[in-house]
This record gives sequence, structure tokens and C-alpha cells, in this order.
Amino acid sequence: MTRRLQTSEETGGPRSGPLHFRQVAGCFPTGITLVSTLVNGEPHGMTANAFTTVSLDPLLVLVCVNRNTRMQRFIEASRVFAITVLAADQQDVSGRFADATRPTGWAAFATFTYLAAPATGCPVLRHGLAFFDCAVTDIHLAGDHCLVVGEALAFDELDKRPALVFVDGRYATLPRSWATSETAGHSLRTGCCSARSAPQT
Ligand SMILES: Cc1cc2nc3c(=O)[nH]c(=O)nc-3n(C[C@H](O)[C@H](O)[C@H](O)COP(=O)(O)O)c2cc1C
Repeated sequence: MTRRLQTSEETGGPRSGPLHFRQVAGCFPTGITLVSTLVNGEPHGMTANAFTTVSLDPLLVLVCVNRNTRMQRFIEASRVFAITVLAADQQDVSGRFADATRPTGWAAFATFTYLAAPATGCPVLRHGLAFFDCAVTDIHLAGDHCLVVGEALAFDELDKRPALVFVDGRYATLPRSWATSETAGHSLRTGCCSARSAPQT
């Protein structure tokens, strides 16, 4: 008979509950992204690690957004978002867009180089590793978060630098030693303008 796995609570370890849940979930390394949206020509950005791809047919991605964030309100209004996958040297971006005291609108992006995503015009960081430009297809309520599903209307790699990783509640770096120096695709360069002249949603 298979021996039953005991929880750490049963063996006198940490208790169950949200803090322990977060600690255990932290063993699962993720990348870090900047989620951005555009409402009436004003952008909003937010750091998110709860991002994943979902489907190849159609091309769907998912980001889990806390229901109490401004981002959730804005995405519900705009029905569009863009994801920038952050590089190891972009910890400052992650910190900035997770800081509740950051300025709103374009001011939050002022110190970064951004471009308008081809389909939606949402700001994408030029120095990220990749982007996904998405139209919202579904929003599912799930506890204190919303599962925001988007169809990827445009997407591309921007760079081959090492990736920013989040594990055990800390930032880490994932070297991509296998990456060639060959430059990645740059579809943001074509058909793209400065974010200021992005189409309004
Ligand atoms: C590394 C990291 C990952 C995060 N991931 C998420 C996430 O996946 N979903 C989320 O709703 N908030 C996440 N947050 C928290 C938001 O970035 C933070 O609450 C932000 O200030 C919310 O912005 P807003 O209310 O202005 O939209 C994360 C923060 C950090 C530092």
C-alpha cells in the first residue's frame, strides 16, 4: 500500500493558509511580465508573474489579475492588453509597476522606452524579451482574482538577453547561454509608431 504523504502541518511544520500557500507556490519558478492596457488613450501597467500560454488554436494567453487592482478595472473597460516579458536586467521595471504609489498614466512609463503594440496600441517595453498583443476573449472570476484570457493578435521576440525569474519570493536570473547572438524578430518596429500616437481604444 502506498504510504500517505503527510502535510508539514501534520508533522509539526508550517501551518496551512494563505501565507504557507504562497511559500509553497513560490517553489514554482515563473517569469515576470509587465501587463499594460490603454483606456481612452491613457495607459496603465502592472507587474504580473501569473502569466501563461493557454491554447494554440486559437492562440490564447492567460493572466491572473487581482480583483482589487486598478488593472482589473481598466482591462474590463478596454478589453485589450499587452504583455512584455521582462529581462534579468529589468528588476527596476518589476519593482516600479508593482509599487502602489507609482504615478498613473504616461508618467508611469516616462523613464522607459516603449512602443505601441501593433494591434491594440498598448505600450510594450522596447527592451523586454518578447511581447504578446492581446484582445480579451474571456474574464473568469476565480476567488480574489480574475482569469483574464486574451487572444494573441501579434507577438514576437524582442531580445535574447537572460530572463528575469521569480522563485521563493525573490528575483533570479535565467542565463540563456544557448541563445545565439542572432537578433530576435522586431515586429514592433514595423507598423508601429510612438505610443503617443497609438490608436485609442
Ligand atoms: C514579482 C511580482 C509579481 C506579481 N504578480 C502579480 C500577478 O500575477 N497578478 C496580480 O494581480 N498582481 C501581481 N503583483 C502585484 C501587482 O503588481 C501590484 O499589486 C500592483 O501595484 C497593482 O497595480 P494596480 O492596482 O495599479 O493595477 C505582482 C507583484 C510582484 C512584485
